[in-house]
Amino acid sequence: MTIRKRILSGIQPSGTIHIGNYFGAIENWVRLTKDYDCFFTIVDYHAITVQYDPALMQKRIWEAALDNIAAGLDPSRCTIFVQSHVPEHTELCWLLNCVTPMGELSRMTQFKEKSERERENVTAGLLNYPILQAADILIYKADAVPVGEDQAQHLEFTREVARRFNGRFGEFFPEPATLIGRGARVMGIDGASKMSKSLDNHIGVVEDPEAIWEKLRPAKTDEARKRRSDPGSPDRCNIFSYHKLVTPEGQIEEIVKGCAEAGIGCLDCKKIFFVNLRKVLDPIRERRMELEAKPELVREALREGARKARTIAQDTVQGAKALMGLVTDF
Ligand code: TRP
Ligand code: SF4
Repeated sequence: MTIRKRILSGIQPSGTIHIGNYFGAIENWVRLTKDYDCFFTIVDYHAITVQYDPALMQKRIWEAALDNIAAGLDPSRCTIFVQSHVPEHTELCWLLNCVTPMGELSRMTQFKEKSERERENVTAGLLNYPILQAADILIYKADAVPVGEDQAQHLEFTREVARRFNGRFGEFFPEPATLIGRGARVMGIDGASKMSKSLDNHIGVVEDPEAIWEKLRPAKTDEARKRRSDPGSPDRCNIFSYHKLVTPEGQIEEIVKGCAEAGIGCLDCKKIFFVNLRKVLDPIRERRMELEAKPELVREALREGARKARTIAQDTVQGAKALMGLVTDF
């Protein structure tokens, strides 16, 4: 039997997910569960590094779990758990804190961006965010981390932490590779910026189909098509970028031709997209309803995920402490 390589990725607990999350990352992760030993952790400890409402946090974590499991991160195929349920992440984070120079942290792009936004509330937690992320990854000695382009710097940082630790205390952590997903960058329904919940330009994965249609129907297409008889250009149309996510090759060709010859109207074109999108989303929404009806099953899956993760995490922390001269039994 060949040993499967291990991957780990972190899921922000931002509540229910949208199709940008799905086609940008989750769909790819689901594919990876076939060939890799996969760990996915809902990073609640990262989520509290910026201002947030404690009354809403439980719900955000729970919805992220339900949605991601329904979308295919099935606990029978991967290890999925909540970060704070495996306290060893913060323990390793402390050990790694003590091998990381401060200057490097304040130079991280994401820290600079977020601290601009936070202003009065730039915490030590926000500064140390990348060390906790390094701990998330190194604690499982992950071979690779599937992330978006925006996390490349945090991954490079993680490898540096590993090298620094190994250099000082002896070879222990493998350097994880960055797996930049071939996921799509999905634009918002406004066509103006990347799909995001905070900009309220999103299509939810488990959103009611009627509500989705109400967003699609008035959505902008190629603005050069003022009338049904005007020819259009799919490359200038946000709806066409959506088609590429779900519409089969043959139908895509028909749309390209139909659009350029004004043979197809935008409303009909949107309907075709809607039908194809529903083929992906309907089963996810149904699974999500099933899970919601049996919350105890989900809770048990998360507990089991944490138990499995913890066994490995405890082992790594023991090993790291021993190398650092922190003898555990006198
Ligand atoms: N920082 C990541 C993000 O914003 C989330 C994250 C936390 C993560 N820990 C991780 C990603 C470990 C990959 C591996 O998306
Ligand atoms: Fe966009 Fe389709 Fe309308 Fe062409 S026909 S502009 S691709 S919605």
